[in-house]
Amino acid sequence: MLKESWSLVEEHQDKVAGYFYARLFLSHPDLRDLFPVHMDVQRTRLLNAIVTAVQTLEDPEQFDDYLRALGRDHRKFHVIPEHYEVVGGALIESMRAFAGEQWGVEYDQAWADAYAVIAAKMLAGADADQNPPYWYGEVVAHERRSHDIAVFTVLPLQPLEYRAGQYLSLEATKYQPRLWRTYSPANAPRRDNTLEFHVRALGAGWVSSALVRRLQVGDMIKLAAPMGTMTLDRRSTRDAVFVAGGTGLAPVKSLLEELTRYNRTRWVHVFFGARTREDLYDLADLNRLAARYPWLSVVTACSDDPTFPGEQGNISDVVARYGPWNEHDFFVCGSGVMVKASLTKLAELQVPSIRIKYDSFSD
Ligand SMILES: Cc1cc2nc3c(=O)[nH]c(=O)nc-3n(C[C@H](O)[C@H](O)[C@H](O)COP(=O)(O)OP(=O)(O)OC[C@H]3O[C@@H](n4cnc5c(N)ncnc54)[C@H](O)[C@@H]3O)c2cc1C
Ligand code: HEM
Repeated sequence: MLKESWSLVEEHQDKVAGYFYARLFLSHPDLRDLFPVHMDVQRTRLLNAIVTAVQTLEDPEQFDDYLRALGRDHRKFHVIPEHYEVVGGALIESMRAFAGEQWGVEYDQAWADAYAVIAAKMLAGADADQNPPYWYGEVVAHERRSHDIAVFTVLPLQPLEYRAGQYLSLEATKYQPRLWRTYSPANAPRRDNTLEFHVRALGAGWVSSALVRRLQVGDMIKLAAPMGTMTLDRRSTRDAVFVAGGTGLAPVKSLLEELTRYNRTRWVHVFFGARTREDLYDLADLNRLAARYPWLSVVTACSDDPTFPGEQGNISDVVARYGPWNEHDFFVCGSGVMVKASLTKLAELQVPSIRIKYDSFSD
C-alpha cells in the first residue's frame, strides 16, 4: 500500500516537497531554523529520505541499528521528539493533497503506522545516547595540497571517540551553516585528540569547496558522532589490500596508522589511484610509511596522466594486474564510480564479498 500510494504522487515529487516544507514552516515557523539557508539544492532531501525509509524498511526490526543511529544523528539537527509528529502529519497531508481522489483512508493509516514504527526507533536511539549532539572543534592546521584538495587538522574541544576507518559528519559552521556532510578522519585516534581530514572540492558542491578554499586556522566547526564499519578486525591473520581513489585515501591512512601500532605478521598492499599525479596529494607521506614498515607496499596509478612513471589506468584494473588476491582482506574507498568498478573487478577475481569492506563517497 505504501508503494502503491507513493506511485500516485511520485511524478510530482518536487511539488510534494514544496508543499511539505510550506506546511511545515507555516504551521511551525520555528522549524525553519533547523534547515539550511538555501534549500533549492536539496529541497527534497528530508522528504525523499523519509519516503525511502518508510518504503524500504519493510521490516524495521532488521534495520534497528540503522534507525537508532539515524535518530541519534538527528540530535545534531536540533530535532526534538515533538517534531516527529509534526513532520509525519505534514508528510501525509502533502501526499494526500497531490494524489487527488484516488487517495484513500487506508493509505493514511498505512503511512501513519509505518512512520510511527520508524520514528519510535529513532527516538529510542536518540534518547539512549549519552554523547553530546555534536562536538565543537577548532581548526589548528590547514594546507592546500592541490587546486581542489586540502588537508586540515581539527582539535575537538571535548574528546571524540571513534575507530580508525570510520567517518563522521561535519558542519563548516561559519561558511555553510546547517549543511552536514560526511568525511573520514585520516588518522587513528591520537592522544592529543586531533583529527586530520583530506577533502576534495567537487564541482559546484557546497561544503567541500568551503572546507578546501575558505576554511582557516582558528575557525570553529561542528563534528557529529562517528559512523561506519570499515574498521580492522584485529583477529584476522590474512594479508590486507587497501584500494583508495583520491581522497578515499583518508580512511585508508587511518587504518594503516592503526596497523603500525600492532602489525608484525600481515603483508599490506596499498593501491592509490587518481586521475593525475597532482591528485596523488599525499604520496610523500605514504612513501615515508612504506620506507619505515617492511610489511607495507604502495602502488600508485594515474588514469589521465600518460607520462606518470607509476602504473597507468583505473585503480580497479591496476589491482587486477597484481595478485592473486583470494586470501586477502580488502578495504575499498573512493568515489561511487571507483568503488563500483573495484567491487565488480573483485567479484570477477572471485574475492569473497565477506572479505571486502568499502565506503563510497557518493550518496
Ligand atoms: C561515508 C563517506 C565518507 C566521505 N569521506 C570523504 C572524505 O574523507 N573526503 C572527501 O573529500 N569527501 C568525502 N566524502 C564525500 C563528501 O561527504 C561530500 O559528499 C562531497 O564532498 C560533496 O559534498 P559538497 O557539499 O561539496 O557537494 P554537494 O553540495 O552535496 O553537491 C552539490 C553538487 O556538487 C556536485 N557533486 C557532488 N558530488 C559529486 C561527485 N561525487 N562527483 C562530481 N560532482 C559532484 C554535483 O554537481 C552536485 O549536484 C565522503 C562521503 C561519504 C558518504
Ligand atoms: C521517520 C522519520 C525520519 C526519517 C526516516 C528521517 C531521515 C533523514 C535522513 C536519512 C536524512 C539525511 C541525513 C543526512 O543527510 O545526514 C535526514 C535529514 C534531515 N532530517 Fe530527518 N528524518 C526523519 C524525521 C525528521 C524530523 C521529525 C525532523 C525535524 C524537523 C527531521 C529533520 C531533518 C533535517 C533538518 C535534516 C537535514 C536536511 C537537509 O540537510 O536539508 N527529520 N532525515
